[in-house]
Amino acid sequence: MSQGQFLSNCAADTLSQAALALKNGALVVLPTETVYGLGADASNEKAVARIYEVKGRPQDHPLILHIASMNDITYWAEEISDYAIALARSFWPGPMTLIFNRSENAKDFVTGGQNTVGLRVPDHSLALGLLQECKKIGVHAIAAPSANRFGHVSPTTAIAVQEEIGAYLSEQDLILDGGPAQVGLESTIIDCTGGAPKILRPGAITQAMIEEATGLKVSENNDSQIRVSGSLEKHYAPNATVILDVPAIAGQGFIAPADVVTPPGAIRLASPANTDEYARTLYSALRDGDAQGLETIAIIQPSGDGLAIAIRDRLMRASKGR
Ligand code: TXA
Ligand code: MG
Repeated sequence: MSQGQFLSNCAADTLSQAALALKNGALVVLPTETVYGLGADASNEKAVARIYEVKGRPQDHPLILHIASMNDITYWAEEISDYAIALARSFWPGPMTLIFNRSENAKDFVTGGQNTVGLRVPDHSLALGLLQECKKIGVHAIAAPSANRFGHVSPTTAIAVQEEIGAYLSEQDLILDGGPAQVGLESTIIDCTGGAPKILRPGAITQAMIEEATGLKVSENNDSQIRVSGSLEKHYAPNATVILDVPAIAGQGFIAPADVVTPPGAIRLASPANTDEYARTLYSALRDGDAQGLETIAIIQPSGDGLAIAIRDRLMRASKGR
């Protein structure tokens, strides 16, 4: 049975209640513009440990800390470069996570034992309202991975969260319904510990946007010691087998840009008219395919750069064999 209290139409007092729940060690699922997050007080070791249990995720994978504003960077991080400040000013609140050297406040249990910490100011009114309520009662960040079981597709609606992890939540945990995620794909992760920004996971904040904001070339070298679980080969995967850039045959699911005709007998799961819509609808289309019990989903990938790069990155991982 699903546990975790499901809260729609969140009012101001819901947010103070949710902040208090976090302070008391509960988990709070929060909407963001990218995907839904499974949140805990980033300073509470027991609460953070429950995130790993609910996700079924290995303990050495670091979590992103969600903060109310860039003023909170220095509580969690040290050696903040000028280009990182420029990125935060340009794109926060927004779908971008910055990796810094950690301060003593970022403990091993949120960083997976690494000396770095990932920070993000999400662009969603409920998430920001919650973070502000949290600050009032001394919760400095909400540690939150995507609210899915490890390796699965990230949830972009509160209902999808409930289906995905509801059974693993407890009665004191909350799910805040903030509507469908507006971006639909996880944040761009940028390593800011070197002389130039480096993209660890592509997303809606693109290489061109980063270079424009910082005046620097994005670093290409691939010697990073930093581990990103979303960069594991098999990730972001539905139960169905995903095959790329071949037409579906009868009985298979099919996702393709709107101008691609559905092959006879295939089950059309999405027809995005542009790249933004592709990102926004992809994960719910994959879930829909699983809900219909489809064995195979054939996907025609979007072309082009920018957000299309991030979509192809996730699709490549979704299509890897188990
Ligand atoms: O859009 C997002 O980023 C969503 C929403 C909820 O904010 N969160 C998300 O979290 O996608 P998660 O845990 O599913 O993926 C975060 C990625 C992981 O691959 C993790 O390894 C990486 O961020 N990460 C977190 N902290 C890091 C660090 N200190 N160094 C390197 N990678 C880090
Ligand atoms: Mg994830």
